[in-house]
Amino acid sequence: MGTGFSGQYLKKNSRGLQQLKLRLMIKLLPAIQRWRNFRRKLAKPKKMAITLPCQITDNLEGAAEHFQKHGWVFLENIIEPSFHQLLLKNWPKKYYFNPPRKMTKSYNTGFNWTFHQETLPENIEKNPVLLAFFNYLRSPEMAGRINKFTNRNKDFSFYSFILNSTYTGSQVAPHKDGIAEDHRLTDIINLVFFVNGKGGKKSGGLMIAKDNELNDVIFEPQNLFNSCLIYDIKADFYHGFPPVAPGKFRWAINSQFGEKEFIDLTK
Ligand SMILES: [Fe+2]
Repeated sequence: MGTGFSGQYLKKNSRGLQQLKLRLMIKLLPAIQRWRNFRRKLAKPKKMAITLPCQITDNLEGAAEHFQKHGWVFLENIIEPSFHQLLLKNWPKKYYFNPPRKMTKSYNTGFNWTFHQETLPENIEKNPVLLAFFNYLRSPEMAGRINKFTNRNKDFSFYSFILNSTYTGSQVAPHKDGIAEDHRLTDIINLVFFVNGKGGKKSGGLMIAKDNELNDVIFEPQNLFNSCLIYDIKADFYHGFPPVAPGKFRWAINSQFGEKEFIDLTK
């Protein structure tokens, strides 16, 4: 759950035809959801052997210093190019995503998973390329890389995973995450992998800003093709993006890593 929204910002960005369409879509949510569930049930699992191990490039390590100094970093060419191509070609069909439920986060989401869950994200087995990516993120190797990347003398563990895809009008109203205020958990970071997107301004690149109306922006990602924004969820800034401009879109995978000690105690 997000906190710290600006009422004035929400009012301003809830006007217009695109926002009206989204509001209607939210009203029709049960019907859309039923149709997508039906399509999921009919879908056959893709039978393919993944011969490429999913690799996050060493650009991750190259970005560590900036992250440690500023609490955020943006990096390009994050996924090894052959695997990225595979991910592009096998991006899950729309019916695997749930339609938006609220105007403050009006995009499609799917394959939600948190560390409490012993099972895999629902339907991920029907999408073997995505499953390979998920398995790499939850591997001890990735956790070890995050430990070094953050350099906090602490062990991190895979905390959550979710896919989201935007279209014209989608937005995330600037906010802080509720977990930022949970004092039992001292360290948590978010990695937003932009797998594909039109790019440029108002493309759904998650921005970080000093205020909750995006007047004082720290960074707006514009290359949304195999790039990544990493930020400290506990740091003192907001995140969000304004309504996506007509004809634009982006596909992203969010993954969070949190303090292992907290996760082990809370499981
Ligand atoms: Fe958030």
